[in-house]
Amino acid sequence: MSYNNEGMGKLETCRNFDRLYGRVKNRALTKRQSWLYEFLLPSISITSFDPSQYSAYRSISLEIGFGSGEHLCQFAIANPDKLFIGCEFFVNGIASLLSKIDEGKIQNIRIFQGDARKLLPEIPDDFFEYIFLLFPDPWPKRKHTYRRFVQEKTMFEIYRILQKGGIFRIATDCLQYSNWITNVFSAPIFDKKFEIKKFLHDFRPPESDWPKTRYEQKSTSECTFFSIEKLSSL
Ligand SMILES: C[S@@+](CC[C@H](N)C(=O)[O-])C[C@H]1O[C@@H](n2cnc3c(N)ncnc32)[C@H](O)[C@@H]1O
Repeated sequence: MSYNNEGMGKLETCRNFDRLYGRVKNRALTKRQSWLYEFLLPSISITSFDPSQYSAYRSISLEIGFGSGEHLCQFAIANPDKLFIGCEFFVNGIASLLSKIDEGKIQNIRIFQGDARKLLPEIPDDFFEYIFLLFPDPWPKRKHTYRRFVQEKTMFEIYRILQKGGIFRIATDCLQYSNWITNVFSAPIFDKKFEIKKFLHDFRPPESDWPKTRYEQKSTSECTFFSIEKLSSL
């Protein structure tokens, strides 16, 4: 495998992100995690996006905000011929994923450390088989809704980079966010572009196909799951 560590243009720094959206680190890394951060992360980190590097894989999928990476690892282990790119800026989460990759000798995960919205414009049209956005930060206060990941503009970018027939999966345990998602996808610009299936808590998709994330395991609220298929290309 070859990796490209050239710069991808100036990425929003974690410090800026910290100020705007929340903390990027909540505890010191263990010795082993620091070692993995220093020596494993650079070899699997995406700092410039060159799709030709990934042509050996049957398909490529993206997880935005992978937390500690349980869901990403389960998919990667079950599909060794497919590549999974995870985006996260939370340092302790990335460190947890690195430990899992190291322990499981997982070869088919790449990490983009930073705000996923910086990566999206680098991606070619019709690229990903799946995009996962599982339990995104809900920003429940009305004055913070502009921080939600699901916005018309970002979702148009998601539409652009998803393959025709590709699936965008979203889960949330926040009722306001679930309603917000339904409203965003009802916008006229998405007319006939997607087919949306919505599953409520009691009818959750099977775990064999949709593994539970750590957040879902801890959640005590009712969850909503969206499976959004792209019907047509640009
Ligand atoms: C509530 S947690 C859920 C984590 C995981 N998906 C789960 O279900 O256990 C949301 C995660 O998304 C990450 N996140 C939020 N906005 C992001 C962005 N724009 N780009 C990358 N990661 C983001 C946060 O750092 C956090 O780890």
